Amino acid sequence: MIKPKSVEEVIETARIEEVVQDFVNLKRRGVNMIGLCPFHAEKTPSFNVSPSKGFYKCFGCGKGGDAVDFLMELEQMDFVEAIRYLAKKYGIQIEETEVSQEVRQEQQQQESLFLVNEYAKQFYQDQLFDTDVGKSVGLSYFRERGFREEVVRKFGLGFAPDKNDAFTLKATHEGYNPELLKKLGLTTQYGRDFFRNRVMFAIHNLSGKVVGFGGRILAKDIKAPKYINTPETDIYTKSKVLYGAYFAKRGIRKEDECILVEGYTDVLSLHQAGIENVVASSGTSLTVDQIRLIKRYTENVKILYDGDLAGIKAALRGMGMVLEEGLNVRIVLLPEGEDPDSYLQRVGTEAFRDYITREAKDFIMFQAGLLQEEAAGDPIKKAKLIKEIVESIAKIPDPLKRSLYVRECARIMDVEEQLLVNEANKVVATQFKKGQQEKDRARLKEEAPQPDEIFVAPPPPAPGKQAATGDEFQEKDIIRILIAGGGEIFDEEEKTTVAQYIMGNIEDVLDNFDYPLYGRIAKDCHERLLANEPVNSDYFLSHADQQIRELAINMLSSPYEYSENWEKRWEIFLTSQSMPDENFAKDSTQALKRFKLRKLNKMIVQNAEKIKQLFEKKSDDYMIYLKLDQKLKVMRNELAEELGTVVL
Ligand code: UTP
Ligand code: MN
Repeated sequence: MIKPKSVEEVIETARIEEVVQDFVNLKRRGVNMIGLCPFHAEKTPSFNVSPSKGFYKCFGCGKGGDAVDFLMELEQMDFVEAIRYLAKKYGIQIEETEVSQEVRQEQQQQESLFLVNEYAKQFYQDQLFDTDVGKSVGLSYFRERGFREEVVRKFGLGFAPDKNDAFTLKATHEGYNPELLKKLGLTTQYGRDFFRNRVMFAIHNLSGKVVGFGGRILAKDIKAPKYINTPETDIYTKSKVLYGAYFAKRGIRKEDECILVEGYTDVLSLHQAGIENVVASSGTSLTVDQIRLIKRYTENVKILYDGDLAGIKAALRGMGMVLEEGLNVRIVLLPEGEDPDSYLQRVGTEAFRDYITREAKDFIMFQAGLLQEEAAGDPIKKAKLIKEIVESIAKIPDPLKRSLYVRECARIMDVEEQLLVNEANKVVATQFKKGQQEKDRARLKEEAPQPDEIFVAPPPPAPGKQAATGDEFQEKDIIRILIAGGGEIFDEEEKTTVAQYIMGNIEDVLDNFDYPLYGRIAKDCHERLLANEPVNSDYFLSHADQQIRELAINMLSSPYEYSENWEKRWEIFLTSQSMPDENFAKDSTQALKRFKLRKLNKMIVQNAEKIKQLFEKKSDDYMIYLKLDQKLKVMRNELAEELGTVVL
């Protein structure tokens, strides 16, 4: 670990204008400097650097910060990487804290593995560019495929000669430990080269270090596999790596989208054409680790599929995980017989870009469309498919997005919307219950917690900080139901409670409560359900937190009333103001609707902002958001109308 002293020294030494100038052309403007913003596309400079204050600020896109922030944002470094980068730039010797013998050994071991891989990459690259056979076989192959030299070099492509042990011999001769060569999968246990007579693709981790290789066979007839890859090693875990991620991270951030393809060559082709936000899963289906890796940079994924419809259907069924992680997935089907590389090379960059923009279909809609075709005229099959699509929808963490999907799918699949809503609600509540049980099991395995660990009283509210907006009332509504009816049964069949149903729908917005007390209660309920403890009136009435106790007493004893303010704000006029003391299932559904209405309004505002931004950027993508805007408004209006006519 770097010593804090060194971190301070680096931060004090770094001069913002010098750091920025390595990437951006700056001109003096008074005491400040100005240039074209590297974080968004612009023609007139609005990117300001203040040497005296030590920070940058873009008045176009709003990004700002100090030298470290700049590197983290632009180069997608983490904090430590940025500090090391700056230390190197300014020739500062970094001091590390003492680490245990064990840890140090492990670090050194890792470092030496990277060093060996770097050596191997250089070896394969030299073979490709500097040997006759490398040039005539390897380099000419890449050329024929249309890859330019700069891309070949950038991605660390190479050539492994058709010899038994050319690499192993040379490496050993130059002092590299044969055991490490084996450990890295570069040398087989019999001392032969693992990669022979193949063109080579270096695989980098997020910091640009070489963790492994893929090697493609050139001969067409041979039965050997087309690609062989580095086996799992201490520094290469296939399921955690996305090919090209190191070169793509900047582009992904910039475009706010990650394009996912299958193959190494697809990544190369797209990158070469200036589409840099592209990574490959290397022929396997996505893993959770890979999804999380993408999620560090964007929530939007566009998957380019080649191959037949049957294969795609199979792939789609394995997409639940991606949805669960909350990513927005769009699918592009390439024309029959083409993969991204071949199609791009055939039609050219412009047409390719057009195609993947035009043909991108929202994942759920895509699935619904496929299933609909499949089930045409077969009601039994259709019922099964509805279940399938509902399972997909229920995996989406955002309740609002879920509603949008339910609506669209009902339309595409030509079924009653309420049917899908009911089905989805059941699955959501059941999933939440299942999640609880799983977490519960995991918890049981751990040591039993001490009593005061179980119950941590929430912090007292900040004085005077109470939301004065109309949002309070929707939140209050949810809390009221949790307090009065949380323990009631929501779904007989699945044995889920009203509290479970509500939590399943608001789990992801627990931090977004405007009114602190209600937010605290919602979180408290969440914890409690996770611990498999009941959430009901008794619990709240004897709550350790006095504020919560008092609220519960108030809510349970005085008749519930809507604020006049609330009615005015949303223009919803309620015909009755008394609180129902039964039928909590129906009641909670209503409360959620009101809660959604509030979130919908916020989304509409955010979306409008996004439209404005994209429009100013002259990006056609604003059309998508315009469509979304229409949908959101239709939903909002309908929801408002429904609520307005409800007799409570
Ligand atoms: P493809 O067979 O689609 O190859 O495999 P490709 O990427 O289009 O390569 P070219 O264009 O024929 O040269 C897609 C990906 O699946 C993995 C590789 O990562 C490949 O890029 N793969 C494929 C293997 O790991 N082993 C194989 O035998 C085949
Ligand atoms: Mn290909």
